Amino acid sequence: MTNTSALSAPLPIFVLNGPNLNLLGSREPEIYGTDTLGDIEAMVAKRAVELGILVDFRQTNSEGELITWIQEAREASSGIILNAAAYTHTSVGLFDAIVAAQKPLIEVHLSNPYKREAFRHTSFVSPAASGVICGLGASGYLLALEGLVALAK
Ligand code: DQA
Repeated sequence: MTNTSALSAPLPIFVLNGPNLNLLGSREPEIYGTDTLGDIEAMVAKRAVELGILVDFRQTNSEGELITWIQEAREASSGIILNAAAYTHTSVGLFDAIVAAQKPLIEVHLSNPYKREAFRHTSFVSPAASGVICGLGASGYLLALEGLVALAK
């Protein structure tokens, strides 16, 4: 009998962050809180160890790079947590990439966009997402991790 276990290493969950999230901690703390993106990455990494899963945590200010990472996720991830930040509200390219990726995806926002300016009330991510978490600050990332694990069962 062939042992294929070496060929099927568990794939990480991609945690992808869009523009200006590198500024967390100092960026509008009354809206986004005081945790830095590094703090959030550390929280996610700790919870991932507890859950026994791998995560690949990234941030970019570039729409094209975010789309390239979602394309990569199709082959290289078991699911996606996405805070696309401002591109949430503008990017048809992001929507198309998520649909093409065919992976469970949880959309996360630190703030609740529906309590904010009208231009934040449209999401190009939500119609292609398995779930949406917003308004819960950094803990939304941890809930998204647990949500993806639950979806995989
Ligand atoms: C955000 C909400 C977006 O409207 C905004 O453009 C962001 C951050 C959030 O996490 O609350 O940059 O995605």
